[in-house]
Amino acid sequence: GRALRPRTAADYHRAARERLPENVWDFVQGGAGEERTLRANTEAFDRTTLRPRVLTGTATCDTSVEVLGGTWAAPFAVAPMAYHGLCHPEGERATVAAAGALGLPMVVSCMAGVAVGELRALTPAPLWFQLYVFRDRHVTRELVRRAEAAGCDALVVTVDTPRLGRRHRDAANDFRVPPTLRPVNLPEAAGTADPGGHARAAFRPGLDWSVVAELRRTTRLPLVVKGVLTGEDTELAARHGADAVIVSNHGGRQLDGAPAALDVLPEAVAAAAGRLPVLMDGGVRRGRDVATALALGGAGVLVGRPVLEALAVGGEHGVRDLLGLLCAEFEDTLLLSGQPRAADLDVSLLTPPARPPT
Ligand code: FNR
Repeated sequence: GRALRPRTAADYHRAARERLPENVWDFVQGGAGEERTLRANTEAFDRTTLRPRVLTGTATCDTSVEVLGGTWAAPFAVAPMAYHGLCHPEGERATVAAAGALGLPMVVSCMAGVAVGELRALTPAPLWFQLYVFRDRHVTRELVRRAEAAGCDALVVTVDTPRLGRRHRDAANDFRVPPTLRPVNLPEAAGTADPGGHARAAFRPGLDWSVVAELRRTTRLPLVVKGVLTGEDTELAARHGADAVIVSNHGGRQLDGAPAALDVLPEAVAAAAGRLPVLMDGGVRRGRDVATALALGGAGVLVGRPVLEALAVGGEHGVRDLLGLLCAEFEDTLLLSGQPRAADLDVSLLTPPARPPT
């Protein structure tokens, strides 16, 4: 009969819906407000088309890239996401092992349910640690120290969450993280695990760029600023000592009405002017989306929800399968468009946006 094995991220998306309790599905899928930004992220990729070159003699291709001194087997990493344990009992252990088996990096959320040192031991690939800036300076410093002690390769500070976005699905469900899932990497002083109350109570409001300079002085690890959407803020990140930025609207979970990350990537790349790598996330669902972001100057991308969906469907095996599918699709894109090296992709891969007739 017909094979039911998932063949795309879209297949995992549909299968996960059957598996996950409705409130967890809503927490994972949901965005802020009317979810316009959430939809914009995928629609931006759907609008692009490729300009393949033929008869280029390209029989094999190199999908790897170098980012901040680390090698990525393909130009995508697992995005930082809270509590993988909501989707599968093995939680982050399963995701990091799956990514590591393929030579793909993972960014561990400071809201992970497994100790970062334990995760470090499960992967040879780059492991980055994401943090929010907490009200209590001691908590932030302690998080940095723990990431360093665990042997993480970079710190990612998320700057788009001075408060949590208005997520109607979670409010309607009165969604709470079950008490069995604890943010074990957070020092006690950081507060409780309730996702709504937590952010209000513990994140430092009124953050400014001095926090980036402060983190820069606190650690020798590469520092990545996640959540910029403009050229101005890319410039400021560079000036305050960031080693990379991630163009991101938090998967549409924060400011509804923010643009699709892909649409503002060129603005950030232009402002970076080659001084620091620009990564992006939001809406990456296919290997060709990865190629599109690289063609627009991205150094790499992060993949969020599809990873949690594959985790829900098949645990570690499911995530390895999904990431392998994305790798294979990315390789197809390179070979079918005559591109031998991921690292050499440029805007000539993309059909220019049609100009209105004059
Ligand atoms: C997130 N994201 C996120 N970002 C972050 O910096 N720290 C975090 O703890 C979380 N937690 C989180 C949980 C869940 C369930 C989701 C879906 C997302 C945002 C994430 O890193 C990333 O920016 C987006 O998910 C990327 O968009 P896609 O790939 O999900 O469309």
